[in-house]
Parts: sequence; C-alpha cells; structure tokens
Amino acid sequence: MKRVLLTGGAGYIGSHTAVALLKNGYEVVIYDNLINSSILVIDRIKKITGKNLTFYKADVLDTDFLKEVLIKEKIDTVIHFAALKSVSESLEKPLEYYKNNLGGTLSLLEAMRASKVKKIIFSSSATVYGDPKKTPITEDFPKGICTNPYGWSKSFIEQILVDINGSDKEFKVVLLRYFNPIGADKSGEIGEDPRGIPNNLMPYICQVALGKLPYLHVYGDDYDTKDGTGIRDYIHVVDLAYGHVLAVEKIDELKSLEIINLATGRGYSVLEVVAAFEKASGKKIPYKIEARRPGDVDKSFADASYAKKVLGWQAKYGIDQMCEDTWRWQLKNPNGYESEDK
Ligand code: NAD
Ligand code: UD1
Repeated sequence: MKRVLLTGGAGYIGSHTAVALLKNGYEVVIYDNLINSSILVIDRIKKITGKNLTFYKADVLDTDFLKEVLIKEKIDTVIHFAALKSVSESLEKPLEYYKNNLGGTLSLLEAMRASKVKKIIFSSSATVYGDPKKTPITEDFPKGICTNPYGWSKSFIEQILVDINGSDKEFKVVLLRYFNPIGADKSGEIGEDPRGIPNNLMPYICQVALGKLPYLHVYGDDYDTKDGTGIRDYIHVVDLAYGHVLAVEKIDELKSLEIINLATGRGYSVLEVVAAFEKASGKKIPYKIEARRPGDVDKSFADASYAKKVLGWQAKYGIDQMCEDTWRWQLKNPNGYESEDK
C-alpha cells in the first residue's frame, strides 16, 4: 500500500486527512514542526482509527532531514499542508510568511528531487481566484489579485509547481483549491484550534457560543447577496479529507498537472451560517452588523463538477452537519488541545 507523507499533517486539515487515509488502508507519515498544532493530535488520530502512524517533529525548511525521511520512509506521494495561514498575521509579517510558505515549499521540492519522489498534492485555496468576475467559480477562471501575503504565497507556490511540472512531466502535481473548510471528525476528538481571537467565521461563532466572546461582528450587510452578508462555499473537513484520499488513489491516472476545486457548489451567507449554528447548538449567537472587512469578496462559491469528473468525489455533508460536528468538537474541547506545545 502507498506510503504518504503529510507535511503539516498535525494541523486541522492534515489530521482529518491522516484519519481518512488510515481508514482507507494507506500508511501515513506526518512531518510537522507543531508551530500551529499540538502533539496530542497524533494520539487522537491513532485513537480514532485504531491504526498506527509515524510522526516526525521537524521543519520543512530542513531540506537534508526531509530528504532523509522521504528515502527512509519509502514515500510514494507527498501531501503538502505545511504553511502559516493567518491572513491578518501575514499582513504584519510578510517576510515570515514568504519564508515559511515559499521557502518551505522550495525546500520540500529540492528534497523530493534528491529522493526521486515525484508526486505532490498541494493545499491551495479559493483565495487564488481573487475577486472573481462571476460565480460559480470553475478551475479555468483566471487567477486574481490577492489582497494579502498569505494569498500570494498560495498563488506563487501554484506557479512554482506548474513550472516544475513544465520542466518534468513525470513530476505529477495536483493543486487542490479548497473553499471554506469547517466541521470536525464526528468523534469530537480532532478539530480546528486557532490561536488567540479567531479571524474566520466558524471559529469565531464557536467562541461566542462558548461565552468567551460577547458577540459576532458581521462584516457588512450591504453586499449584493440575498441578505446583504457575504456568501461562501463551506465544506465539511471530512469531505475535504476524503478528496485527498481520492487524489492519492488516482494520481497515477490523472493528467500530469491537475487543478481541482474542492467545494460543495452551494453558498451560504453569514446570517445563514449563524442560523444553522444556532439550530445545531441550541445557543443564541448575538451579532452586530459592522463595516465590510477589507479584502473580502461578496460571493465565493464553486462549480464542483470537475472534482466529480476526475476524482469521482462529491461532498456528502451539508451545513447542518458541519455545524453539529463543529459544536461537538468545541463542547468536548472548549480550550482546544490545551497542550504546552500549542
Ligand atoms: P493548520 O495551521 O492547522 O495546519 C498547518 C500545519 O503545518 C500545522 O500543524 C503547522 O504546525 C504546520 N507547519 C507550518 N509550518 C511548518 C513548517 N515550516 N514545517 C513543518 N510544519 C509546519 O492549517 P490548516 O487549516 O490545516 O491548513 C492546511 C493547509 O491548507 C495550509 O497550507 C493552508 O494554507 C491550506 N488552506 C487552509 C484553508 C482553511 O480554511 N483552513 C483554506 C484553504 C487552504
Ligand atoms: C478567509 C481568507 C482566505 C482564507 C480563508 C480560509 C480573507 C480576506 N480571506 O476567507 O484567504 O483562505 O479565510 O482560511 O481573510 N465574517 C464575519 N465575521 C467574522 C469572520 C468572518 O462576518 O468574524 C464573514 C466574512 O466577511 C466572510 C465570511 O464570514 O463573508 C467568511 O469569512 P472567513 O471565515 O474569514 O473566510 P473567507 O473570508 O472566505
């Protein structure tokens, strides 16, 4: 069975993908420096799946060690999750973001070349579309202007991977463009655990529901949408994780370079998410309408049909399940992983 290396595999999406891969019979090696995750995740993945995995606490910037691991572990495919991901922090620390995200990817690519590992699946984002001219968004839409260094790091890395694929068609690249991942494994053992005050909608709503923050700031109610609040394509992280399993499984049959949206194809407004969360949790979420957040787009949702065509993948879970599973994780872990490593 294929052995898969997950850089950043202890993080939110990586941990769910590790569970999905293990459940589907793959062997998993996680390579993570725990800069935004906890060592507790590793045992929780084992507990959920009843399977073992290999973990290295190490930095993707350490090219020599990464090369050693790729060879020693006989890796077939790499899924590259490792990155810093806070939009607001990236505006304050662009150099750190470019060094970690771009530098980390260059280091990984060098290690892959040296160890002759020729398959990579990359965690990209809908952010690379910028402000799309229309919706739903298909993969052939032009890439857009990003509004922050985090977004540019995703866009630049995509280009680097396209160029490397251009120079060596045997080097297989799958760019997975995620829309808005939320939700958690149904065990409530793993989930999203942001540091400090969350930037993203669902973690912020959870903090309000737990009584840690007084109310939700709704950024703008004057967008050209049904209720005036921003629309996004929220996707259950368990669906997203399974998309990676299929990408690993089918990578040999795919084109040498693939770009695939992972999304449900259905958009929800901020107020619709609030209503769904209230229903799932039984908690009232007070909110105040405020000015638009700079850099936000009015609507972002995908046409998800290409993923169905090439991977046979389709999202199974809807917004109610996403909210229920998020809330179960939060109730079970009101302070996240609470590890000293975090
Ligand atoms: P996360 O922060 O939970 O996971 C990222 C992991 O990478 C963390 O465990 C962190 O410790 C690790 N890491 C960071 N730099 C590292 C380095 N130099 N060496 C080794 N490990 C390192 O984030 P996530 O939400 O799981 O996101 C995973 C990937 O998906 C990221 O690349 C992110 O940009 C991308 N993405 C996320 C979203 C989202 O909404 N969560 C949306 C689109 C794309
Ligand atoms: C943001 C990032 C994007 C990143 C994605 C996932 C920006 C400009 N974009 O996207 O690069 O890939 O997160 O990590 O930050 N909202 C509120 N109140 C809040 C938080 C959000 O009203 O406290 C609204 C936003 O205006 C938006 C929607 O909720 O309409 C979703 O926001 P968010 O979860 O931050 O995701 P994105 O903006 O899509």
